[in-house]
Amino acid sequence: EVEESSDRDTSSEEEEEEEEKEVTETTEMTAAPPQETEDKQEVQEKPHQTEQDGQNEKNISNQKKVENKMLSQPAVFIPVNRLPEIQEARLKLPVLAEEQLIMEAVRENPFIVICGETGSGKTTQVPQFLYEAGYASGSGIIGITEPRRVAAVSMSQRVAKEMNLSTRVVSYQIRYEGNVTGDTKIKFMTDGVLLKEIQKDFLLQRYSVIIIDEAHERSVYTDILIGLLSRIVPLRNKKGLPMKLLVMSATLRVEDFTENTKLFRTPPLVIKVEARQFPVSIHFNKRTPVDDYTGEVFQKTCKIHRMLPPGGILVFLTGQAEVNNLCRQLRQAFPFRRGNTTNGEDEDADTSEAMRTFKKTKQKKTVSLPRIDLDNYSALPVDEGDEDRDAGIGDEEYGGSDLEFGDDPASTEVKADPSIPLYVLPLYSLLDPEQQAKVFRPPPPGARLCVVATNVAETSLTIPGIKYVVDCGRVKKRFYDRVTGVSSFKISWTSQASANQRAGRAGRTEPGHCYRLYSSAVFGDFSLFSEAEITRRPVEDLVLQMKDLNIDKVVNFPFPTSPSTEALVAAEQLLVSLGALKEPPRTGSLKQMELARLSCPITPLGRAMASFPVAPRYAKMLALGQQQDCLPYVIAVVAAMTVREIFEDLDRTAASEDESVKLAQRRARLNQMRRLWAGQGASLLLGDLMVMLGAVGACEFAGCTPKFCEENGLRYKAMVEIRRLRGQLTNAVNSVCPEVGVFVDPKMAPPTEHQVVCLRQIVLAGLGDHLARRAQAEDILDQKWKMAYRTPLLDDPVFIHPHSALFKTLPEFLVYQEIMETTKMYMRGVSAVEAEWIPELLPQYCHFGSPLESPSPWFSSSTGTIKCHCSSTFFRIAWPLPAVEKE
Ligand code: CDP
Ligand code: MG
Repeated sequence: EVEESSDRDTSSEEEEEEEEKEVTETTEMTAAPPQETEDKQEVQEKPHQTEQDGQNEKNISNQKKVENKMLSQPAVFIPVNRLPEIQEARLKLPVLAEEQLIMEAVRENPFIVICGETGSGKTTQVPQFLYEAGYASGSGIIGITEPRRVAAVSMSQRVAKEMNLSTRVVSYQIRYEGNVTGDTKIKFMTDGVLLKEIQKDFLLQRYSVIIIDEAHERSVYTDILIGLLSRIVPLRNKKGLPMKLLVMSATLRVEDFTENTKLFRTPPLVIKVEARQFPVSIHFNKRTPVDDYTGEVFQKTCKIHRMLPPGGILVFLTGQAEVNNLCRQLRQAFPFRRGNTTNGEDEDADTSEAMRTFKKTKQKKTVSLPRIDLDNYSALPVDEGDEDRDAGIGDEEYGGSDLEFGDDPASTEVKADPSIPLYVLPLYSLLDPEQQAKVFRPPPPGARLCVVATNVAETSLTIPGIKYVVDCGRVKKRFYDRVTGVSSFKISWTSQASANQRAGRAGRTEPGHCYRLYSSAVFGDFSLFSEAEITRRPVEDLVLQMKDLNIDKVVNFPFPTSPSTEALVAAEQLLVSLGALKEPPRTGSLKQMELARLSCPITPLGRAMASFPVAPRYAKMLALGQQQDCLPYVIAVVAAMTVREIFEDLDRTAASEDESVKLAQRRARLNQMRRLWAGQGASLLLGDLMVMLGAVGACEFAGCTPKFCEENGLRYKAMVEIRRLRGQLTNAVNSVCPEVGVFVDPKMAPPTEHQVVCLRQIVLAGLGDHLARRAQAEDILDQKWKMAYRTPLLDDPVFIHPHSALFKTLPEFLVYQEIMETTKMYMRGVSAVEAEWIPELLPQYCHFGSPLESPSPWFSSSTGTIKCHCSSTFFRIAWPLPAVEKE
């Protein structure tokens, strides 16, 4: 207790001191020793710093002190020449009313949290406040991070326009592009970009202020940034280079930031911005939700346009493809002519042209990225994700709306003029910035605006003039398989908080309506909030990214919401085994060794792996994949393993006799195809992964049609997903090492025998901790071990699934993708490996013993080790990495 509070005093005293320094313009980098008398004064003068409630009022009451303090702040005021109409619009934003309060708070405190409903002006105005107050007038600039690329690009353009400044001054930087210059004073960027900058300059000396925007989304990178900055800011102040951190959130759920003493020793000041919200009537669907929700969305949108009074429509769908489809449908249903061009065709043409240019620039730029050199590797950026982020936690209930249930004014209200044109615009993350900007401009005179968006419109962007919201209730989210660590995108129900945020978009300028295409009962089943992303997933990849940032003691990292220690330990062990982290020393006391196990530094291989957007096991395969021209196959296999269930489930029980016959036929067909794809001889040993390769290749040869999939027992959706992933992984590999220049022809020729052997070794290197060995003679005496395999982590027998290509082969050693428990524990995705590869490819698992020690049996379940024989040497292979050599 005592220590804790003295800590706080010290930190505030340090800040005070730095501020003093700024006045006297001391350029020394080292902090002067604290002076006793001043300390005490400061502690007495700043009682509010340790409290959290009623800050707004307190701040006003501290006005006098603030005025005194003003002297020690950048006294400059940088004038901005705004156009009159811009100035007028700004003044209506709720955040303007709090400008003085916010700026006083920033002067007084190193850490501020600003909460305010979406659209209240946080993103566009707060950087301007800071600019005018001189925070970008010295050597440091103002940096703002966004979890999404769309927001970074469009907000920088908007702010430049509002301030009447060029984009040389108000600029953006996202992963593949940016317009930052030497004159840049306000820089918008994605959180991934700032994380990368921290790798190069931990103190972020270019910046005087960092604003972390959209913190309520709780994206993993935003969380890590807040953790890092909680340390960087005090360090900067200590060094006499003052820095401020502002965290902005659309919700009031900020306890994870403010009440986390591990994070901020001095709790940040919370400023609340009151926004005006008009009532929004909610209309639920009466029917149970249908699968074809996009069809429902189309119907509802048409109905609103035909029957309801003027006002913009905002439609929420889950992804880019859905958005484009609906736009096309709506333009067909409501075509209109403007000048010489029709709405639909014109838009489509320039959208795809823009996409082509975007892709071109992307490709050109990747070539200049650094190449892999395993001995001298500079860290690469973390993946920002090409998909829209899932929107996280929303506000409790948007304020003051009168909820109406069931009644649909679309059937009762006055009919609108059906001849009014509908101006349809798409909005999603990867859309060209020029296209995105269109949603902020007024629609053509007399037309009704209809924006079809992903959840990027939920909190990041506010579209003016929206009166109607159509909510499909779904969201595309990243899901992580705890067994495989594989990530994939799936569509699921959103949370209540997100649904309410969506509804709130209709009440920004006048009362509005929200049409939820699901019943109120279904809404009741939604989770209240989306959890912080970090608790929903295994953390190997995250740990690897942090090690790539040279944060070796991840366990001590001040996460706003921390993953469990077990999760961190498991991650670190796996990464050591994969060779991504250096093996911890096995000397010193138990405690020291335990600690060393949780703070292993990264290896050059780890740095390479960190730059692939897949789980580390698969990243390792990709890192090794270029050998023997195997990369296209490795990419296809990794993509297929990432998309689960590529085969249709034909084991279901049939509802009728008729269906049962059909199912049997289809099963027979699928089994036949599986055998065909698995091949014979050498290729058969690649097992289920060979089947995946064969299926992917055959499907692409047939043009990846729903018909081909249907006929051959493949899930069409999965195959489309695999195709997309292959493209993404190819780009990733090419940007990490352009000299490999892998070009993936969707229709690949089958691998040669030589390549199959190579592929089996690559798979072994990646799935090393998923090794299993055929049960030995003494086991088989026990009936339950018949045809069984042993794994080091399980006491029970595991089996090859009857569907597996290796079911009859029963190889001595194999690796598996995952274990699923049904009637038995079945290994899925198995591939045969040779015993003599193990010590060569998995030296991390091996303990080299004397040949005399114990020549047989090879496997001892009691010690959890495997002994194998290779070129007249005996090896003991144990895993996972034993904590301590007990001897
Ligand atoms: O960040 P926050 O959600 O609090 O608000 P904001 O993004 O700063 O937006 C403030 C206002 O500016 C909103 O009413 C937007 O409609 C408007 N805006 C705009 O008209 N054009 C843009 N490109 C961006 C924002
Ligand atoms: Mg914002």
